[in-house]
Amino acid sequence: MPSLFVIIFAIVLVGNLLYRYLLHPLALGPLSRIPGSNLYALTKWRLAQDDWAGQRTRSINSLHLKHGPVVRLGPNEIHFNSLSALRTIYGAGSGFERTNFYRPFDAYGRRNLFTFASVADHARRKRLLAHVYSKSAILKGHTADIVKDKIRDFLDLVQKTPQSEGVEIFAALHYYSIDVITTFLYGTLGGTTALQGNEVHRGLLGDIMDPARRRLAWFAVHLPSLTKYLYTRTGLSERLTQPLLPMRKPSTYTGIRAHALQAMHDYRDASPDTRSKAQDSIIARLWKVKQDDGLDDLDIASECADHLLAGIDTTSDTLMFLIWCLSLPHNAHIQSRLIEECRSLPATAFSNGVVDLEVADRLPYLDAVIKETLRLFAPLPASEPRSSPVETVIDGYTIPRGTVCSMAPFSLHRNEEVFPDPLKWNPDRWLMGEDGEESGRMGEMKKWSWAFSSGARMCIGMQ
Ligand code: HEM
Repeated sequence: MPSLFVIIFAIVLVGNLLYRYLLHPLALGPLSRIPGSNLYALTKWRLAQDDWAGQRTRSINSLHLKHGPVVRLGPNEIHFNSLSALRTIYGAGSGFERTNFYRPFDAYGRRNLFTFASVADHARRKRLLAHVYSKSAILKGHTADIVKDKIRDFLDLVQKTPQSEGVEIFAALHYYSIDVITTFLYGTLGGTTALQGNEVHRGLLGDIMDPARRRLAWFAVHLPSLTKYLYTRTGLSERLTQPLLPMRKPSTYTGIRAHALQAMHDYRDASPDTRSKAQDSIIARLWKVKQDDGLDDLDIASECADHLLAGIDTTSDTLMFLIWCLSLPHNAHIQSRLIEECRSLPATAFSNGVVDLEVADRLPYLDAVIKETLRLFAPLPASEPRSSPVETVIDGYTIPRGTVCSMAPFSLHRNEEVFPDPLKWNPDRWLMGEDGEESGRMGEMKKWSWAFSSGARMCIGMQ
C-alpha cells in the first residue's frame, strides 16, 4: 500500500503537470484567449513538426486563413497578420527585440547587426554603417561601379558559355551575388571572382547549395544546445558523433565564414599601401572606427561575415525567381515589355553594355517586375520573431513580456483584399494610373509589402 505521503505527492505532481501543460496554455493563461488550434497551443513541437516537413510558413498562413489575423503558434508564441500589429511589434521605437532564434548567425562567437537583441547595442552598430548603405551611396560612384562590373561579368559568362551547355542559373546568380557583396565588403582584399571562373571562390558556395542545410537549420532552431554540442566535438568524440550530424561537415556557411575570417586577417596584415586600395570597403570603414567604438578584430570579422551571409541567397534567389517568372510562356508579353523599356533608353544610359544604375532605378516597369517578385517570392518569407521585455497590448490582446511575437511576409503578401488574385505573378498591379498618380490601392499595397522587414531592424542592404 503506498503511504499517504506518496499519494499526496502524486496528486500534487499530477495536478501541477495538468495545470502547467493543459489548463494554463488552454484555459487559464493570458494567451488562452488567442484563437487557433489547441495542439499548437499545447506544445511547441507541433510547429516544429511543420518545420521538419518544410511547411511551417504555409501552415501558419493556413492558420491565419482559418482563424484570422492573430493566431497561437505555441505555448509562448503568437503570430499576427495586421498592419496595426506590424507597427506595434516592428515600428521604430517599439522596444521589441530579436529573440535567440537569430543566435546561430553569430560569427566567431560575436554578435553582429543581425543578432544583437538589445535595441541600444544594435543602434550603436547601425550608426557606423547606415550611411554606406543609403540609396545615394549605392546608386552612385564606387558601389555602383562594383555592381556594374559584376553585371558585365555575369553577361560575359552567359554569352561565352556554348548554348549546348547552357548556364546553370541558380549557381550563376550565386556567383553574381557573392562577387558583388565580397567586393563591396572587402574591396581587393577578399573580393571574389566566381563569375570569372575562379574555382576556389565557386567552391565557397558548395555548402550553401547542399539541401541538407535545411535539416541543419531545423536542429539549430529547435535543438540549439544539442546542435552546438555535436558540431564542437573534436578528436575521437568527433568521429563518434559524425553519423548523428544533421548535415555532414562542412556545414552551411563554413566556406563563407572561413573566407570572411581570412579577409579580416588579410586586411589586418596588409601594408598601408595595399589597404588604401580597399579604402571604400566596409571592412576599411569599420577598421577606421575600431578603437573609438570598442570593436576588436573578431567583431569586425563577424559584422562583415554577417552581411555576406545576409546578402548572398537573398539577392540570388530573388533574381532566380524573377528570371524564372519571365521565362514562363504565359509571361512572354511581360518579358517583351521589359525588353522594350530597356531598348527605349538612349545609348548614353549605358556604359560597357550595362545600364547606369540611377537610370535603371527610374524604370517603372522594371520596378514593377521587381516589386511583384519580392511580393510573391520574398526570399525571406518566414516569420521574424521578436519579444518585448515588458507587457504589451497588440490588437486588443494582452501579451506578457517574453512572449514570442512574429509576422511573416508570406502571409502579409497574400492578403487578397490588398493584392487581388494574390497567387498570380502580375507586375501590372504595381503600375501607376495614366495620370502618373498613385491609386489608393497602391498606397495600401506598399504598406503591406514587407520583403525587407521594417523599422529599426529593417534590411540594411535593401537598396
Ligand atoms: C533581395 C534582397 C534582400 C532581401 C529580401 C532582404 C531581406 C531582409 C530581411 C527581411 C531582414 C530582416 C530579417 C529579420 O528580422 O528576421 C534583413 C536584415 C538584414 N539584411 Fe537583408 N535582404 C536582402 C539583401 C541584403 C543584402 C544585399 C545585404 C548586405 C550586403 C543585407 C544585409 C542585411 C543585414 C545586415 C540585416 C540585419 C539588419 C539589422 O538587423 O539591422 N541584406 N534582410
